[in-house]
Amino acid sequence: MMLATDLQKRFGIPDQVSIVDLAPDYPVININNAHASAQVALHGGHVMSFQPHGHEPVLWLSGSAVFAEGKAIRGGIPVCWPWFADHPSDASLPAHGLVRSQFWELQAVDQLDDGATQITLSIQDTPESRTLWAHAFKLELVVTIADSLRCRLRMTNKDKVNCDYTGALHTYLQVGDISQLKVSGLDGVDYLDKLADDKRIQQQGDITVDAELDRIYTHTDAEVVVNDTALNRKICVQKQGSQTTVIWNPWLDKSAAMTDFEVGGYQHMLCVEAANAVDDIVRLAPGETHVLETRLSVKK
Ligand code: BG6
Repeated sequence: MMLATDLQKRFGIPDQVSIVDLAPDYPVININNAHASAQVALHGGHVMSFQPHGHEPVLWLSGSAVFAEGKAIRGGIPVCWPWFADHPSDASLPAHGLVRSQFWELQAVDQLDDGATQITLSIQDTPESRTLWAHAFKLELVVTIADSLRCRLRMTNKDKVNCDYTGALHTYLQVGDISQLKVSGLDGVDYLDKLADDKRIQQQGDITVDAELDRIYTHTDAEVVVNDTALNRKICVQKQGSQTTVIWNPWLDKSAAMTDFEVGGYQHMLCVEAANAVDDIVRLAPGETHVLETRLSVKK
């Protein structure tokens, strides 16, 4: 991996993009353009923060997050891939796949005509990854920082055989007060309740959160709107290439059991994840590409 100083020389843009070490040998990209500020870690291809000017931060990042190789960052947008949650057949493999806990490569930093900044990161198979997931692949994450945030995860099958995978852009949204939220967009959609042995339940009306919640909404490409009365704003989560939306809040006990989860943080976050999971499995023939995209925008 290139050093932060070398990355800065190659990709830095005065007053707009700088690359620095957040911890030893742990480069992050700081972006500040006409629309917003953001931070993206090379580790995990991980968007850590996004804040349009004049708004509160859109993403929640745990104050106890750990920045070290091999440990996924708690908060922001972890990239879960090539499997979502537990591995389907081998519980000894890491949850949420392989790429959220490895360094990616910075490929490009582009200034767009409208003042937006586009960051492209990539990761490919290695001899080690092939022992855990037996395919050649190229993943690219294209992050566009404008007054909205767009993340496109482009997966290309570089293998000679078909491959199947699941995954998610595991977005942690920052909210003012979880108990005052109303989450709309999923009325009438069936979900699997992970807290009740994957029982299938139909959503009635808006979602409110007053306890732990771990739900996989199936067969939906709907926009989800998080109505946050405490911060007096709405966050709109749109997506493409996904028929599955995961809504998660660990609440008090589960969050307290995670050493990297800031104390009390569960009151200020909600995950709304654009996913490919359950029967929404992506199958790619050799050379084919699939794009999973999420877009976050804020309205006062
Ligand atoms: C969610 C899952 O997507 O991620 C939850 O639905 C899981 O079941 C959560 O607990 C966090 O996972 P992790 O591995 O980052 O602690």
